[in-house]
Amino acid sequence: MNPTTDEQTYIHCEDLFKIYKTEDLEVVALRGLDLRVSRGEMMAIVGASGSGKSTLLNILSGLDQPSAGRVRVGSRDLLTMTDDDLVAYRRSEVGFIWQQTSRNLIPYLNARQNVAVPMILEGRTPDEAGDRADFLLEEIGLIHKRERRPVELSGGEQQRVAIGIALANGPPLLLADEPTGELDTSTADEVFQVFHRLNESMGVTIVIVSHDRGITSRVDRVVAMRDGRTSSEIVRYVQFSQGKGEFTEEFSVVDRSGRLQIPHEYLEQLGIDRRARVNINQDHVEVHPEQSASKKQPRWKQS
Ligand SMILES: Nc1ncnc2c1ncn2[C@@H]1O[C@H](COP(=O)(O)OP(=O)(O)OP(=O)(O)O)[C@@H](O)[C@H]1O
Ligand SMILES: [Mg+2]
Repeated sequence: MNPTTDEQTYIHCEDLFKIYKTEDLEVVALRGLDLRVSRGEMMAIVGASGSGKSTLLNILSGLDQPSAGRVRVGSRDLLTMTDDDLVAYRRSEVGFIWQQTSRNLIPYLNARQNVAVPMILEGRTPDEAGDRADFLLEEIGLIHKRERRPVELSGGEQQRVAIGIALANGPPLLLADEPTGELDTSTADEVFQVFHRLNESMGVTIVIVSHDRGITSRVDRVVAMRDGRTSSEIVRYVQFSQGKGEFTEEFSVVDRSGRLQIPHEYLEQLGIDRRARVNINQDHVEVHPEQSASKKQPRWKQS
């Protein structure tokens, strides 16, 4: 599913900035980020360390507030929300999964109790919370291990319990920061199967942050971040004509001002540095190095 119209857009970030101020310097972690995510989509954000992925996720989860720009989730404007609204938002609208499996679970409670805790905190009776915990444990394929404590579960199983905890109060949005970063590939596959199942059965919107570009094969759309901005998008789609097959296509993101990031390797290969010549050619735009389009010297250099 591609976000195309405003109606479909569930998460909308526009020109988002986050500046961290420390004692002697300012770090610009997000610098004019634009992003749209559709309701019901399961997508990933990838990028090198320090590109701003966790900063973005913390803002979307209501744990942190941006310095400037616009960010909307559903009908909520995260920039102007009061502290009370943010607490309510974190409780009911969004579930969060951390990379560190140990951070998601309470060690002395078993899987069923762990999933029940957020519901009891929200005022449900122990019976109601237990019933829904069983339902969620069934969905994540761990009902038979519901009596086990975290140390008695594998890393992948712990992350699946973490998904159950995040979805305990039925939030429409699930955010996961490197949820499979500590897992091997086959265990990570099990976790992604659970994400897919819940995305399809509950219609929950899922945003997953990862270092690993290999995540492209596991979600429908991957948005790459560089230096605090979205730089490109990889879209996976299935083609039915000429034999069924899966294809991916990579696009550069164009922001509202018409800025687009040209991959570094293209710039280096063509020797494009500070300026480029841009012209329209029927149905496409061409970007030429300054030199090749015209070998002319500037007038002031001609004798
Ligand atoms: N609380 C903070 N105070 C100051 N600087 C911060 C803070 N949190 C993050 N930063 C800086 O903001 C930038 C973006 O950090 P962020 O954690 O969002 O990156 P990331 O893409 O999640 O990286 P990683 O893949 O390593 O988790 C980095 O330069 C980081 O050092
Ligand atoms: Mg991070």
